[in-house]
Amino acid sequence: MRLAVNIDHIATLRNARGEQEPDPVAAALLAERCGAAGIVCHLREDRRHIKDNDLARLRQAVTTKLDLEMAMTTELQQIALKTRPELITLVPEKREELTTEGGFDIARHFAVLVEFLKPFKPAGIEVSLFIEPAKKAIDLSAEAGADIVELHTGLYALKQGNEQALELKRIREAAVYAKSVGLKVVAGHGLNYLNIAPFSDIPEIEEVSIGHAIIARAVMTGLEEAVREMLRIMSALAI
Ligand code: PXP
Repeated sequence: MRLAVNIDHIATLRNARGEQEPDPVAAALLAERCGAAGIVCHLREDRRHIKDNDLARLRQAVTTKLDLEMAMTTELQQIALKTRPELITLVPEKREELTTEGGFDIARHFAVLVEFLKPFKPAGIEVSLFIEPAKKAIDLSAEAGADIVELHTGLYALKQGNEQALELKRIREAAVYAKSVGLKVVAGHGLNYLNIAPFSDIPEIEEVSIGHAIIARAVMTGLEEAVREMLRIMSALAI
């Protein structure tokens, strides 16, 4: 199974100071060097983390695969066609949410979606739809012309015990079904170091997309060296 790393929250941290560090492009290159199969960024309508200039720089720098997560808006369609990531992932987007909250409601937007997707295939950009792990959403994704479905694992990540096992079963069945109708299958949202294990048992899922857990872990594992380094400098300067 491949890992795609979402670097949005490197930009969140950078934006907290409005300066240049940490740089999401440097983080993307580091993730690629460590074996990430792709880099994911979400250009939100409110630009709360990744900015237009980050996207342009990521396009220049990323050599594995750039996945642009985006809402179905004309503005983002134009940006995507100009930037040419290897793929786009369509997500529902609400201004007030902290992160993407649910799968894309394809049934509700079907006619608009079909029109929206038309320019992407000729441009050589694959299309992934972030959906609930449900048969109807999968059928509609295939019908709309998607290449990939990203199964929403957010509920699985929130649940525990029997409820989590049931949600995992739903994800497994959805993955098997999506593959059987010719879609590539990936998964993501809320996955972390503790809840990833059962995915080894779902070979239909080719890739997982993980952001928050990796960036949060990077802070905690990197903090030790960061503090030691500052102390080394201070000690060498006798301050
Ligand atoms: N996949 C999609 C479609 C997302 O919107 C997100 C969050 O940006 C992720 C995966 C990654 O989720 P997390 O940050 O919880 O790993």
